[in-house]
Parts: sequence; C-alpha cells; structure tokens
Amino acid sequence: MSFIIAIAGKGGTGKTTISSLLVSLLAKRKTGTVLGIDADPNSNLAESLGLKTKDDIGTIVDFVAKNPASIPTGMTKDAYIDYRIQTSIIEEDGFDLLAMGRPEGPGCYCFVNNLLRTLLKRLADDYDYIVIDNEAGFEHLSRRTMRRADRLLLVSDSSEAGLRAAKRIINLVKELEIEVRKVYLLLNRCPQIFLKDKIEELGVELIGVIPEDESLLSLSRQGKSITHLEESSQAYKELKNILDKILGVRPQQ
Ligand SMILES: Nc1ncnc2c1ncn2[C@@H]1O[C@H](COP(=O)(O)OP(=O)(O)O)[C@@H](O)[C@H]1O
Ligand SMILES: [Mg+2]
Repeated sequence: MSFIIAIAGKGGTGKTTISSLLVSLLAKRKTGTVLGIDADPNSNLAESLGLKTKDDIGTIVDFVAKNPASIPTGMTKDAYIDYRIQTSIIEEDGFDLLAMGRPEGPGCYCFVNNLLRTLLKRLADDYDYIVIDNEAGFEHLSRRTMRRADRLLLVSDSSEAGLRAAKRIINLVKELEIEVRKVYLLLNRCPQIFLKDKIEELGVELIGVIPEDESLLSLSRQGKSITHLEESSQAYKELKNILDKILGVRPQQ
C-alpha cells in the first residue's frame, strides 16, 4: 500500500508549489515509485513541474459520455475509460502524474465518484508514494475521492483566514471519517511563527515554516517551473527537512 501525502489549505497559500516540490524531492530520493495527483481543477501541477498536460479524467469521462461512438467495438464503456485514463498518466523521470480535472458532467455524478474512488484505490497499490494536491478548502472533489492519507499537510500563510481554512479542513476530515494517520500544519510565506495561540488552538503539530522565498518569486515571475529551484534556496532546504520529518528520516547534515 502506498504512503499518501495529501496537501490542502486556503487558495494561494502554496499548495501546488509544495506538492510539486515534494514530488520532485521524492523522485530524487529514488526510494520508490512516485505518483502526483492533481486534484485541484483550478491549478496545474504538471505545469508547475514544467510538463505538458495531457487529458484529465474529467475531460476523458465527458468525452466518452458525449461520444459513445468513440468506444471501440467489443470494449465496454468502463474498460475504454479505464484505458484512456491509463494513457493520460504523464510518465516522467522518477515520477508519474495524473490530473483529475473537473469530472462534474450532469447525469454522471455517481458514476464519476465511483470511478475516481476505485481508481484511487487501485493506484494506491501501484505506487510507493502518492502526493495529492487538493482543492482549496478541500472541496467536493477531494472530499469524495480521498478516503485515506498517511499525512495531511495543511498549508497556511500568515493570515488568520489561512488558519481558519485549516481548522475547517480538520473538521471536515473528522466529519467525513477520512482516515488520516497524522495531520501537520505547514506555514508558508511566513518569516516566523505567528498567531501562536491560534496555532495551538488547532491542536496539530507544526511541521515547518517556509519563508517568503526570493528564488520562488523569481521563478514565478519568469514563468519557470519548480524544477529550476536552486537547492540552496530557503524553500528547497526547508521542504527537504519537512519531507525528512514526514518520512521519519533523520535529517542529513
Ligand atoms: N514560500 C514562497 N515564497 C514566495 N512565493 C511563493 C512561496 N510559496 C508559494 N509562492 C508563490 O505563490 C503563488 C501561489 O502559490 P500556489 O502554490 O499556486 O498556491 P495554491 O496552490 O495554494 O493556490 C505562486 O506564484 C507561488 O510561486
Ligand atoms: Mg494550487
């Protein structure tokens, strides 16, 4: 069974940045197969990693529903969708990527839910590590499909709204009985720990603080992917430590 790291939090707090860095750091470690899942239809994990996007699951399901004639003779609709999803996985050096898209086509709600759940279950057997970049605030897509995670990283910036969103997600996870082994708070774009009492109220361990990072800002200004981030940058170093903590590895000096 794979080790699932899920990322969630308010929009714009750095979820996609952190997810893509985790995917590339895990790939570099070469300790197992890695799958990145883009579960946020409003962003693009592949692009953040400098990769060309392929069809997402939502697009595939919609296409097949609207074009039943596209299903090859002798193949069931489910088998065809399954085949299309398999070919939509981006295979990179050291990791694979899959995008959920917006599978919300009217009339196929239950169908898509079941499909995504079954798919995630199966993928959990196929990869050693899975990183899920969730929708801001853990919206419907993430809620319906993610049934378990080994680690849930709640990303917040230095705003009270960021922490409030984290709190809301903690409550949702309980309410929906999603099996999460450990929840962490990760402060991003923060010079230091702030709103200490509010953090304590959350009752989850703070895994790290990533400062506003000049190299990240410069990459995003130039439209460059995260893979260009210098290893000497604060964000890179900090996230490497965070990954060590997540995996329970002693930090290397
Ligand atoms: N620590 C940081 N320092 C500087 N810029 C950052 C940092 N973290 C994220 N960003 C920038 O903030 C913007 C939003 O980040 P993103 O990862 O897309 O957020 P989310 O996925 O939560 O909406 C991006 O332009 C990203 O480059
Ligand atoms: Mg995002």
